[in-house]
Amino acid sequence: MKTIHDINIDNKNVIIRFDYNVPISDGKILDDTRIVKSLKTLNYVLKRANKVIILSHLGRIKEKEDVIKNTLKPVCDYLSKLINENIAFCDYKNEKEIIKNNRIIMMENTRIFDLDNKKESSCDIELSKYFASFGDVFINDAFGVSHRENASNVGISKLLPSANGFLIEEEINNLNKIVDSPSRPFVTIMGGAKVSDKIKIIENLLPKVDKLLIGGALSYTFLKAKGYNVGLSLVEDDYINYAKELLSKYEDKILLIQDNYVSVDNNKKLVDINDMKDNYIGYDIGNKTVKIFEDELKCAKTIFFNGALGMFENDYEYGTKEIIKYLNTLDSLIVIGGGDTINAVNKYLDKNNFVISTGGGASLTYLEGKKLPGIVEE
Ligand code: 3PG
Repeated sequence: MKTIHDINIDNKNVIIRFDYNVPISDGKILDDTRIVKSLKTLNYVLKRANKVIILSHLGRIKEKEDVIKNTLKPVCDYLSKLINENIAFCDYKNEKEIIKNNRIIMMENTRIFDLDNKKESSCDIELSKYFASFGDVFINDAFGVSHRENASNVGISKLLPSANGFLIEEEINNLNKIVDSPSRPFVTIMGGAKVSDKIKIIENLLPKVDKLLIGGALSYTFLKAKGYNVGLSLVEDDYINYAKELLSKYEDKILLIQDNYVSVDNNKKLVDINDMKDNYIGYDIGNKTVKIFEDELKCAKTIFFNGALGMFENDYEYGTKEIIKYLNTLDSLIVIGGGDTINAVNKYLDKNNFVISTGGGASLTYLEGKKLPGIVEE
């Protein structure tokens, strides 16, 4: 991977693409993780470059009203305070003048160009050339959007000398610890609702893991494939055969739940998986399963956790909460992927030593074994 060290940025006008798609309410930044994580690259470039021109998207722009709702101005003010430097904000009017007269410039949300035939999101060549005209060199550090082929990440990188920033390097290195040569035992915990959402990642990880622990609603398709009565629990019948194939091919690796919390006539009940009735709906893993999962996790050196183990947002939080708390007592490398799982970690832990990616969609795409178009190659 081409990094910032492989490119000359000294005294250049450097365009940096960050992912400042952060939650904002009434102009207040609610989570600054992505901003803080961009500082290493930003400070490095600021020490060496002549000018820095920052690009980012924020939210999605479908109609004119979205432009005001999704302005990057609060991010510009926040970052300016954080680095204690003036940052000029530019909404693409008089941009040549603004770039000429300032050292650090943040351009308005790149997705405002989506109002014109989705030019940003479709990686329009003219828009890419326009972005490229702001500087001499391009650094991409927007890991969170690297699974998308946009004008402001992929398009521009084809037009200027380009390299990846430190955050992209760190994120890819962390994910490679899972995909390339994980310290063993390597255990993956997979939850969430649907097999269809997880197929690619399960397929890609199964040959590499020592154990795959399946929880969440995902389990019921697998349990049904094994002949269990799962009552009214969520099952994707189209994936039963697929689940059967995986269960027979990776019999020793896949561990399913043994008990669960179900809803019966609006009451919560803990039942063994052998005792499911036709009207039961499974919503969470039970204590026996938590214990079995913990026994597998105890010795694991690498753990990847993706997808909640129950409907934790709706009173079925036992399994997800217990496993997250247990993981926090371990010394292994623990990588958390996906928005729901990250929300659950933030809900149940004040502090953790997990590796949490700044890009949900991007990291899961990478773990599916796909190439990320936003990563700058040679
Ligand atoms: C994210 O938050 O996942 C990234 O910024 C990408 O955003 P998007 O899903 O709107 O492209």
